[in-house]
Amino acid sequence: MNIRVGIITVSDRASRGLYDDLGGPALQRAAGEYGWSVVAESLVPDERRDIQNAIQDHITQGCNLILTTGGTGVALRDVTPEAVREVAVRELPGFGEVMRAESMKITKNAILSRALAVVVDKALVICLPGKPSGAVECLSFVVGAIPHCVEVLQEVPTNC
Ligand code: MTE
Repeated sequence: MNIRVGIITVSDRASRGLYDDLGGPALQRAAGEYGWSVVAESLVPDERRDIQNAIQDHITQGCNLILTTGGTGVALRDVTPEAVREVAVRELPGFGEVMRAESMKITKNAILSRALAVVVDKALVICLPGKPSGAVECLSFVVGAIPHCVEVLQEVPTNC
């Protein structure tokens, strides 16, 4: 399975240049270690429309797996889950369930995470925490299901 990855960092401060984006590069390294090709990267503020536009842009560029980092917490500016749900064809609750359950073994603040995965068009979109180590950890908890999920989403329905 050829996994073509898009990485979207969602952060008001990083998008304004107030600090460096560390989450995007951390996910890029992790994707490389999993043998995936990173074909698109974006850095957007915590705005629904910007997040949705970046996802659509990455799909247009051929991504079949999109990883977002940031905006999954409880702060009022954290809108990543709301943004992706608005454009999703379906949600895959198992991803969020496993990410929270496994992260609780690392930090009690993981209960605050609204990490999730959805399908947009034919792409799997996984929304990870903003902290770089948290994003990489959460990805590692669900990585086993990703190739099969991406492959199933690429299949042409037989009734077409
Ligand atoms: N999960 C893991 N594995 N490691 C972490 O450090 N941080 C938690 C949580 N999940 C964390 C984690 C914290 S502190 C928060 S607030 C939420 O993810 C959401 O993070 P975000 O708002 O930066 O997306």
